[in-house]
Amino acid sequence: MAHDPLDSIQQALSRVPTERQRRLRTFRPGPDATLLPGEAGSSQWPLLDLASNDYLGLSAHPSLKAAAMAAIQSDGVGCGGSRLVSGTRPCHNNLETALAEWLGCERVLLFPSGFQANLAAVLALADRHSEVIADRLIHHSLLVGIQASGARLRRFRHNDLSDLRRLLERGAQNEPGRRRLVVSESLFSMEGTSPDLAGIAAACQEFGALLLVDEAHALGLLGPGGRGLAWGLAGVSLVSGTFGKAFGAGGAFLASDGVVGQWLLQDSGAFRYTTALAPPLAAAALAALEQLQADADQGIALLRRAQRWRDGLEAAHWRRPPGEGPVLPLHVGDDALALDLQRHLEQAGLLAVAIRPPTVPAGTARLRLVLRRDLPHGSLDRLLHALATWPHAPSR
Ligand SMILES: Cc1ncc(COP(=O)(O)O)c(C=O)c1O
Repeated sequence: MAHDPLDSIQQALSRVPTERQRRLRTFRPGPDATLLPGEAGSSQWPLLDLASNDYLGLSAHPSLKAAAMAAIQSDGVGCGGSRLVSGTRPCHNNLETALAEWLGCERVLLFPSGFQANLAAVLALADRHSEVIADRLIHHSLLVGIQASGARLRRFRHNDLSDLRRLLERGAQNEPGRRRLVVSESLFSMEGTSPDLAGIAAACQEFGALLLVDEAHALGLLGPGGRGLAWGLAGVSLVSGTFGKAFGAGGAFLASDGVVGQWLLQDSGAFRYTTALAPPLAAAALAALEQLQADADQGIALLRRAQRWRDGLEAAHWRRPPGEGPVLPLHVGDDALALDLQRHLEQAGLLAVAIRPPTVPAGTARLRLVLRRDLPHGSLDRLLHALATWPHAPSR
């Protein structure tokens, strides 16, 4: 009898240790940055949301909701076709034009998700003859893109400009004719750190390499008016952004000069062979951009809060979370311990999620605390109090 082809998958599943198993939980957004119990298996009581990437609390903003509903009325829920067939709507053109103007670039193209935009970005800039030099901690979507491109991958130490320069220099000496692409992020979502992007861009120019920057977590918060850290830098070939985080909506975009934009339009399968971004999401993303433009200091207010939280955690003897943005990892190391801390905080009504391998390297499990602009007054005290009663809390 033929063997069961699912056997090997079953075996692989049985090897996932308990403390690394994932499960889905259901929440409903509640008032004052809370998440309410959704259905069975979620939580028992409202939890303060210290986990999602809705950094500015825009997902529930009345103007985004109104824009999404108006778009459904005028353009329908879905487009029923790809952008290049019948799926382009005025809301797509409006959003692409507004983003291009805001970012001061020649071309913006929308994608249904940041994961897909990242695939498209890498595949547009690298092929099997290329070399990709990437930060060791780039997002999975970028890595999948690199693997799909067939390019040779070299990795530099996280945010280590001199290591990157070493690889660029060696490549330029040994294989001067090979196309090189450098890939990094402007705010690493599990680390909270940002690279010296100006230094990276300058190195790329010096050694003739292309540069792709994923601004998923920085857009709306970092850089002038929330335009991201790549904004205004010469030497950046392509910027990737998502509407699923600070923009409070969903969908994504790539921003570039005219040549790369045209190449994406002509060549990208990830753009061509997918249904256009749903009109309510495109309209909500445009409304979010208008909110950002109306109050360009929203990101700064959040960064100030992030500074206070870092100070508070450090004063409570936790290792100061690196970086300046709203992502504050609390390093615990052990997977089971990170889960224990997550459960402990949940008992106190706080949701922050344990991040474990393979999302982060083995032995570096952490609790990922995420700040939002709309957290109620007293949230930091609540957190510090709950952390202080955890039996494994650091003491000094
Ligand atoms: C750094 C980074 N890039 C890209 C993405 C993908 O964005 P999206 O959620 O729009 O698919 C994410 C989200 O997990 C991310 O953290």
